[in-house]
Amino acid sequence: MSKILVTGGTGFIGSHTVVELHNAGYEVLIVDDLSNSSRKILQQIEAITGTQPEFVELDLTDEQKVNEFVLQHNDISGVIHFAAFKAVGESVQKPLKYYRNNFYSLINLVNAFDSKVKFVFSSSCTVYGQPEVLPVTEDAPTQKAQSPYGNTKQVAEEILQDTCAVTPELKVISLRYFNPVGAHESALIGELPIGVPQNLVPFITQSAIGKRGPITVYGNDYETPDGSAVRDYIHVVDLAKAHVAAIKRLDGDQAVDNYEVFNLGTGKGSSVLQIIQAFEESTGVKLNYTIGPRREGDIEKVWGDVTKSARELGWKAELGLNEMMSSAWKWEKYLQENPI
Ligand code: WQD
Repeated sequence: MSKILVTGGTGFIGSHTVVELHNAGYEVLIVDDLSNSSRKILQQIEAITGTQPEFVELDLTDEQKVNEFVLQHNDISGVIHFAAFKAVGESVQKPLKYYRNNFYSLINLVNAFDSKVKFVFSSSCTVYGQPEVLPVTEDAPTQKAQSPYGNTKQVAEEILQDTCAVTPELKVISLRYFNPVGAHESALIGELPIGVPQNLVPFITQSAIGKRGPITVYGNDYETPDGSAVRDYIHVVDLAKAHVAAIKRLDGDQAVDNYEVFNLGTGKGSSVLQIIQAFEESTGVKLNYTIGPRREGDIEKVWGDVTKSARELGWKAELGLNEMMSSAWKWEKYLQENPI
């Protein structure tokens, strides 16, 4: 059985990917520094899959520890690298914390494995900025990132692309996520925001359950059908399945090039007000919201062209807004009774 290393595997997208890797017959080893997640997630994963994944607490910014780890684990055939700081707002306030963590981790991993394993990298649609043309394709030009977080994703992709250009045996796929939302149907794993959620859907579910006040819609004067900003929201389980498809592509040596990029979205855009309406319709819970000013750094509208992922990965998103909202709400209610 092929063993896959999942860095950041106790996190939101990481934990859902561990479940889907298990379902696809892969053995999983998680490394995480637990700076933004809980070790309890390991038991939650076991409750879903029946197997608790092997776990090593590891600071990936420590080059010596990473080298020792890799020497001790020579049975790893692939790496899915999620581990990174990802709070856009915090990255503006603490750029060095973000550049140090996100770059040291990536470079240490690629250096230590020395192209002996295939790599799947967790990237983001944030690299596109506000695209000129929608839906945005993988060939669209990247634009100057609006935040140090976004810049770490752009530069990380360049680090991988430049390394692949001179290392033919190194095979990498970068996956550009649009907006991951929702939770596993079991409601045993989901998004665990620390403090006041910055992202829309966790703020909605916390407002709905009474942990937060009314939602502020950041702007309704955009050039969009209802004036609120548009994003391509994708169910986290669909996103997780795409990582398995990427590993299988690399397993099968089907890659056209040793560095490839894929959009992971639904191909459809939804506005903030449409998300609020979808949540109310799928849960029956009325939301309170007010219209506020635009949020600094937000783009107006983005949704992905996902034809390349369908053609080359054989993957497409299957879950709609109803499942995204109802699973997010079920998870929020689970957390209220079972704090993690
Ligand atoms: C979505 C929309 C807000 C909160 C970020 C990262 C991106 C990716 C996903 C990692 C925007 C509006 C939000 C609120 C609101 N992360 N909003 N009221 O900013 O599109 O993307 O998360 O890869 O890289 O940039 O996601 O959920 O913060 O915002 O009106 O209380 O909801 O203005 O239009 P975003 P988001």
